[in-house]
Amino acid sequence: MELIKNLQWRYAVKKYTDELVSEDKIDQIIEAINLSASSCGIQPYRLIVVTNPEIRQKLAEGSFNTQILNSSHLLVFAAFNNITSEYIADYVAMMEKKRALEVGALNPLKDAVTSFFFTQTPEQHAIWSAKQACIGLGTALIAAAELKVDATPMEGFDPELFNNVLGLSEKNLHASVIISLGYRDTANDYLASMSKVRLPIDQFATKIK
Ligand SMILES: Cc1cc2nc3c(=O)[nH]c(=O)nc-3n(C[C@H](O)[C@H](O)[C@H](O)COP(=O)(O)O)c2cc1C
Repeated sequence: MELIKNLQWRYAVKKYTDELVSEDKIDQIIEAINLSASSCGIQPYRLIVVTNPEIRQKLAEGSFNTQILNSSHLLVFAAFNNITSEYIADYVAMMEKKRALEVGALNPLKDAVTSFFFTQTPEQHAIWSAKQACIGLGTALIAAAELKVDATPMEGFDPELFNNVLGLSEKNLHASVIISLGYRDTANDYLASMSKVRLPIDQFATKIK
């Protein structure tokens, strides 16, 4: 399987060259992320793609991750702060339209999803949304590897700073995880020549037959 080779090739890059990733490749990675599965299928996060150097300079402040500034593109996964019944209604209406169903055909789904979230606090909504964003993060890593674009998934950033600089709070969003994209600086990245470290499969996975 080609995917295994791609996953062996990729690593969390610490130092990038100045080479930029083409917009075509960025768009393919974005499309792959958009195709990620999410619980209830309601995609409770948004993706912000940042290239502006001044904004990235602000975002990188105080973080040990220099890749926030020094990489081709920065993707910010912005998870919902809470799930509203209006959002669920709009999403279900889009499903009905897309699948050429009658208006109201998916009311049972809408009601089930709405009542599920009604029993939860906004904090639980935010945690749940961030978990869904992590699925998108995994897709981004796989898509980037297939395109031979390097990537670094990162939690080492100041979420409050990101929320302020990107104006996320007023959009009911919060920065949950980020990825830099670019091309590895093989000569100057200490990790570039290091072996990938993973558990032996028999310690990692158990087959119950
Ligand atoms: C959610 C998440 C957060 C991470 N945060 C950082 C980070 O802040 N900085 C960093 O350099 N690497 C970060 N990493 C990369 C991991 O350290 C790396 O994936 C792990 O050591 C496995 O190595 P590999 O991805 O190179 O195979 C993060 C990875 C994940 C999945």
